[in-house]
Amino acid sequence: MEFELIATDPETGARAGLLHTAHGTIETPIFMPVGTVGSVKAVMQEQLKQDVKAQIILGNTYHLYLRPGTEILEKAGGLHKFNGWDKPILTDSGGYQVFSLSANRKLKEEGALFQSHIDGSRHLFTPESVMDIQRSIGADIVMAFDECTPYPCEYNDAKKSMEMTHRWLARCFQRFNETEPKYGYEQSLFPIVQGSTYKDLRIQSAEFAASMEADGNAIGGLSVGEPEQDMYEMCELVTGILPKTKPRYLMGVGTPWNILECIGLGVDMFDCVMPTRNGRNGMLFTTEGVINIKNKRWADDFSPIDAGLDGGSSNTYTKAYLRHLFAAQEILGLQLASLQNLSFYLHLVKEARKHIIAGDYGKWRREQMEIVKRRL
Ligand code: GUN
Repeated sequence: MEFELIATDPETGARAGLLHTAHGTIETPIFMPVGTVGSVKAVMQEQLKQDVKAQIILGNTYHLYLRPGTEILEKAGGLHKFNGWDKPILTDSGGYQVFSLSANRKLKEEGALFQSHIDGSRHLFTPESVMDIQRSIGADIVMAFDECTPYPCEYNDAKKSMEMTHRWLARCFQRFNETEPKYGYEQSLFPIVQGSTYKDLRIQSAEFAASMEADGNAIGGLSVGEPEQDMYEMCELVTGILPKTKPRYLMGVGTPWNILECIGLGVDMFDCVMPTRNGRNGMLFTTEGVINIKNKRWADDFSPIDAGLDGGSSNTYTKAYLRHLFAAQEILGLQLASLQNLSFYLHLVKEARKHIIAGDYGKWRREQMEIVKRRL
């Protein structure tokens, strides 16, 4: 995998780049739609490509390991073949999901013991097993097995957790380097920086991650309930330490304004369930602001869902029609809302990239911040 830096914004530190993977090139900064079980909820691959213009999607080790399992994924020839997505894929390691979804989880030096949220069956994730599973899934980018601390977190707990995440990281690299890709193309392993909201821990963790000399680095443990200012502060501190020549991925972030802010701090990659999850609840992110499409005020608004997006279903269908679909509990409503939000997120990072290259990202962002936060 290779990362080419194309431009850096003089005012903010935002970067535009090209990330070359075995399944194609990704233009950064980029937003990655979340496809937890190998499917971006309610959205077909064709729509992801043509409407949303997604360049890379996420999968989750935790979910894919439990169902369909590595045996089926290997038989299929990996996740790309299984789900029909032939562009880049990134898989999260499962660390985060074990703690947020499973029952009876127990953390040990060896790894995490947990019970499946599906059938209660017992499993052990170790740094080694998680690397092996991600070899079977076959994503282009795979994530280290880490512990994401909750917020708030006592200093000593955050320190102990970070130290174990570092020992796990060394074990991840050891296993990853002594195993081969299963499907004939290269995979890259990204470390994850932890350290909660403590500056000294974040510095230590960023330095440790950087010492791995990986193809890219991730920032975890943020957007877990801390004030936005704390997230930005940690993010700025960490991007100041991580190598400039490699992509930086901020995990699980966030709102459109979070993304614009963190692009300015030198982050290149983002993922979040917000556009799809909130979309299914009727919250739309548009080029004019935020809309609750269930609101009565849209009942006779026959303007396109989002005239500011070029082409696709956001131009074809009206706000009044989408509101009607939600009221009638039609499946198409969930599809159109998900498409709108993902299309908007991809539009936003594409525009950001244009302005980074043009050298006026700071000015553009000040204008956009007002718009993306506006409630209509
Ligand atoms: N997704 C959002 N935050 C995190 C994190 O800290 N670790 C992992 N593995 N995934 C995440």
